[in-house]
Amino acid sequence: MARTILTRTVLAAVSVASLFALSACASDAGGDPAGGGESAGGGADDGVITLGFSQVGAESGWRAANTKSIQDTLTEENGFELKFSDAQQKQENQIQAIRSYITQGVDVIAFSPVVETGWDPVLQEAKAAGIPVILTDRAVDSSDETLYESFIGSDFVKEGEMAGEWVAEQYDGEGFKAVELQGTTGAAPAIDRKEGFESAIEGTDVEIIDSQTGNFTRAEGKTVMEGFLNKHDDIDLVFAHNDDMGLGAIEAIEAAGMVPGEDIKIVTIDAVKDGMQALADGKINYIVECNPLLGPDLAEIAKKVIAGEEVEKRIVVEDQAFDQAAAKEALPTREY
Ligand code: AHR
Repeated sequence: MARTILTRTVLAAVSVASLFALSACASDAGGDPAGGGESAGGGADDGVITLGFSQVGAESGWRAANTKSIQDTLTEENGFELKFSDAQQKQENQIQAIRSYITQGVDVIAFSPVVETGWDPVLQEAKAAGIPVILTDRAVDSSDETLYESFIGSDFVKEGEMAGEWVAEQYDGEGFKAVELQGTTGAAPAIDRKEGFESAIEGTDVEIIDSQTGNFTRAEGKTVMEGFLNKHDDIDLVFAHNDDMGLGAIEAIEAAGMVPGEDIKIVTIDAVKDGMQALADGKINYIVECNPLLGPDLAEIAKKVIAGEEVEKRIVVEDQAFDQAAAKEALPTREY
C-alpha cells in the first residue's frame, strides 16, 4: 500500500456513521431492493461494503492514476462492491450520481467534488438517508462539517506555495513576467494553488501578467497558451496548475519557435509520468507533486466508518517536489 500520510489531524469524535450503521441495519432487515423507495444505506450488514464513487472525470494523467488507485483497491477481494461513475467535469452529473447512490441504498458514498460550492442540499439528502460520505482529493466549501465523515487529499495551498517559493528562489531580481494556467474555475485545487503561489511570490519582482483557466486539460492548456503568446511577447515563465496544461503549453511554445524550459520556464503541479519525463528532458523546470494514490486510504476510512470507529476528519497526503535532476533519478521507479 503506497501510503504517504504526513499529518493526521484528528478532529472527529466517534463517527456518526456508527449511528447510521445501526439505523440502516434496522431498516435493511426487510431487504430494501436497490433503487426502491426509502434508502437504507450505511450498513454493509452482508459483510461487503457497497461504495458509490463519483469521479470528477478523465481530464488528466493525474485523474487516470487516481481512478486506477481507487478501482485497484476497492475490489471484491478487499471486501467492496464499487459502483463508479465519471461526471465528465460537470457538477450536475455528480449530484445526479450521488442521488442515484442514495436511491440504491449504498453503504458509503465517496466523491471528488468538481467544484467547491453547492453541495449542501445533496449531502443533506445523503445524511437524511443514513449514508456516510467521504471526500477524496478535493474539498467542499460548507459550514456544516457533519455532512461528511472525512476528507482525504493533498494540501493544495501548500503545493502552490512550494511552486512559488522555488520560482522566488530562482528568479527574484530578474523582473520575470509570468502567465498562469489555472485549473477548473471554482475547483479547490485551482483556488488554493493560485492563492499559495501568489502568496509565495509576494514581495518579489516576479509578476503575473495574465491568468486564465485551461480546465486541467492538455488541449485547453495549449489553446490558452497560444492566446498568451499572441498577446504578450515578454513571457518568461508559465505556472500551470497541473502537468497536463503544462504539457499543452510546451506544444504551443514549440509551435511558436521557442524552447520550453529555456526561453520560457515552466513550473507545474502533479508529477505524473508524462510531466516527469518532460522535466527530465529539460522542457519543464520544476514540478510539485500531488499524490493521486488515494485508494488505500479511502478503503481504510470506509471500513472504519462502517465499523463505527473513530476517523480523522482531515487526512493530508504528503507531496514532494522535483527539479530536473531529481526527476531523472525518480523516473525509473515512478508508480504513476
Ligand atoms: O484535484 C487534483 C487535480 O485534478 C490534479 O492536479 C489535476 O491534474 C486534476 O485534474
